[in-house]
Amino acid sequence: MTSPYETKQHQSAAGVVWHHTHCSAGDRARLKQQKPLCVWLTGLSASGKSTLANALEACLLEQGRHTYLLDGDNVRHGLNKDLGMSEADRAENIRRVGEVARLMTDAGLIVITAFISPFRADRDQARALFGAQQFIEVFIDTSLALCEERDPKGMYKKARAGQISGFTGIDSPYEPPQAPELHIDTSCKSVAQCTHEILAFLQPRILP
Ligand code: ADX
Repeated sequence: MTSPYETKQHQSAAGVVWHHTHCSAGDRARLKQQKPLCVWLTGLSASGKSTLANALEACLLEQGRHTYLLDGDNVRHGLNKDLGMSEADRAENIRRVGEVARLMTDAGLIVITAFISPFRADRDQARALFGAQQFIEVFIDTSLALCEERDPKGMYKKARAGQISGFTGIDSPYEPPQAPELHIDTSCKSVAQCTHEILAFLQPRILP
């Protein structure tokens, strides 16, 4: 089967030619008895992405699913520790995470990502790496006012005071998804209710 990576768009800068592997994504997924996919959580800082991602992963593991959670705050300590918060660096952050998530779904995993991913074009680029049913964009819709009130790391306060520049929602834009697979309005729901909503959507899509 031809890989989407063999297209011109994915051409290697060094001219390296794609090498086919013997075992396929389908083989690996079959062994895990699940349909791998990428659950892409997007929303403002302190919107609840990480909390929901962790709750979701715990529920999936309890069901015997094979998962991995990629969280912005953690990935930026390792793989992406060389990146800052400029638009170009955020684009590269999301590009790498999209590629890693894609590799992990190839390995048969259900991948959950929790990144602000403020720019629509970057999220769309990540989406383009996956099959039509494999990328589930989940908009964690929490008002800026509530995120600022929570401010768990005091970053909004610093951004308002001008000590951090380019902070999403303050002086850097957040582009909400226009057609996410799921829109979670967190204003009047508990973490358990939000998690249940995402799980219910995923359930029929991860069955082998
Ligand atoms: S993203 O924009 O590139 O998707 P990412 O999710 O990896 O961001 O990292 C967001 C985390 O970085 C936030 O939770 C916050 O703690 C921290 N952070 C530091 N500077 C900024 C900034 N200028 N804007 C938003 N978040 C920032």
